[in-house]
Amino acid sequence: MVFFWINLRNRNKILSRLKATLDPERYKHSLRVAKTALALGKKHRLSEDKLRTAALLHDCAKYYSRTQFFRAAKKLGLKFDPVKRLEPKLFHAEVSAALAKNEFGVRNTAVLKAIKRHTTGAPGMSKLEKVIYLADHIEEGRDFDGVKKLRALAFRDLDKAIAASASKTLDFLIKSNLPIHPETVATRNYYL
Ligand SMILES: [Fe+2]
Ligand SMILES: [Fe+2]
Repeated sequence: MVFFWINLRNRNKILSRLKATLDPERYKHSLRVAKTALALGKKHRLSEDKLRTAALLHDCAKYYSRTQFFRAAKKLGLKFDPVKRLEPKLFHAEVSAALAKNEFGVRNTAVLKAIKRHTTGAPGMSKLEKVIYLADHIEEGRDFDGVKKLRALAFRDLDKAIAASASKTLDFLIKSNLPIHPETVATRNYYL
């Protein structure tokens, strides 16, 4: 097993680096995702270090431009599909996982996978992946119709909350006339 833990010095290093690269709102969002993930994860006895690392770094590449996402995706050998071509921001989860590994030194595969899957979710997620996916959607700064209900549901039942969360995302994408990634549909169906 890969040795892994995040000590205070590492955590401070992550925080100062994130603060320097992300815009203030995204930085605050990452802190709130960590807070929510820790609260959600407690019930499921998940490692605080893993939760904190995955949550803090889940959007670490979010500042990339369209061109930077394309370049990074090519360099990393990521799979291009029609939706990602149209909306290269969707690469931010996979690129953030790569940055977490290469720039922040994260070696734990469970943490990297949670970062990688946080946007669309995926069928058969681990508990850590589920918590990061949900924490991103329900952190206290989120304000959409039904968010309070979704928060309460997440603390009762992770799987039901993921189905509801994916439904909300689909709703939003349709109303905003935005493309839908098939993985979001697969996530919804699986957890439904
Ligand atoms: Fe994200
Ligand atoms: Fe996020």
